[in-house]
Amino acid sequence: MDIKTIMVVGAGQMGSGIAQVAAQTGYQVILHDIKDEFVNKGFNTINKNLTRNVSKGRITEQEKEDILSRIKLTVNLEDAKEADFVIEAASENMEIKSKIFKTLDKVTSKEVILASNTSSLPITEIAAVTDRPEQVIGMHFMNPVPVMKLVEVIRGLATTDEVYQVVEELAKQMGKTPVEVNDFPGFVSNRILLPMINEAIYAVYEGVATPEAIDQVMKLGMNHPMGPLELADFIGLDTCLSIMEILHEGLGDSKYRPCPLLRKYVKAGWLGRKTGRGFYVYE
Ligand code: CAA
Repeated sequence: MDIKTIMVVGAGQMGSGIAQVAAQTGYQVILHDIKDEFVNKGFNTINKNLTRNVSKGRITEQEKEDILSRIKLTVNLEDAKEADFVIEAASENMEIKSKIFKTLDKVTSKEVILASNTSSLPITEIAAVTDRPEQVIGMHFMNPVPVMKLVEVIRGLATTDEVYQVVEELAKQMGKTPVEVNDFPGFVSNRILLPMINEAIYAVYEGVATPEAIDQVMKLGMNHPMGPLELADFIGLDTCLSIMEILHEGLGDSKYRPCPLLRKYVKAGWLGRKTGRGFYVYE
């Protein structure tokens, strides 16, 4: 399968990171979001990351310009008709994703693979809204995308081996290490990571220790690059809550119940780094 142009739907933290890595790999990229302001913000983030790479001597100014010139911005989802491969990285909401996949199914040519970067929604359910469920697959990148090596590749019930292989090869081309997992709530990464983060929030809630102390224990004692509460702020507390809810509902076990303190922070609008306050305050 000859992939030249990749469309990335959603220009937020994840989408802009995926677009950057795809353009760095040499693909033409169409970066989509619903508003000009969102696509411009995504493009500026990519520009900033590449400028840092130039200043560190990793790429030349010319290479930076070449990478940026491969990225086309759009607010029109129908531009997916020009794509050979689509990666969706929109909001973690089944209604929004269903709508996007219905449109993508209509406008892209029939051999195009439609991948979702969802962090925990069922691939099989997303695939079911299309007429090509065998060509729908999960391609779950980690944040920050340019830095993290892993891509979880999630097969839906109908995903074919051929489609899996194309995605595995694409992930490798992008300098990532693909790991195959099946379609269960939270896949592997978030099924294991989020209960740890939720437990850390319970530890704050029950007064076991301060957020700083909890993070220090995990950083210095377990060699984690970030403590669980710092990481929760980095991921976004709204995203953490929605993943815990998906685990709780999908696996039906009370051990996945979201901590009431997490709910409270989300209700307060303390969503972590992106709103300037979560378990920590950001300037
Ligand atoms: N975009 C691009 N590059 C970034 C970046 C970003 N947002 N943030 C950091 N970097 C780069 C820096 O430029 C730096 O590169 P160089 O050393 O080559 O200059 C490198 O990463 C290290 O950054 P720093 O020195 O600033 O800081 P650090 O050493 O603390 O590393 C980190 C930052 C890589 C984010 C590290 O703290 C880390 O690995 N944290 C854990 C991240 C993690 O667990 N991610 C998974 C989240 S869960 C998820 O994504 C799944 C989900 O569905 C919720």
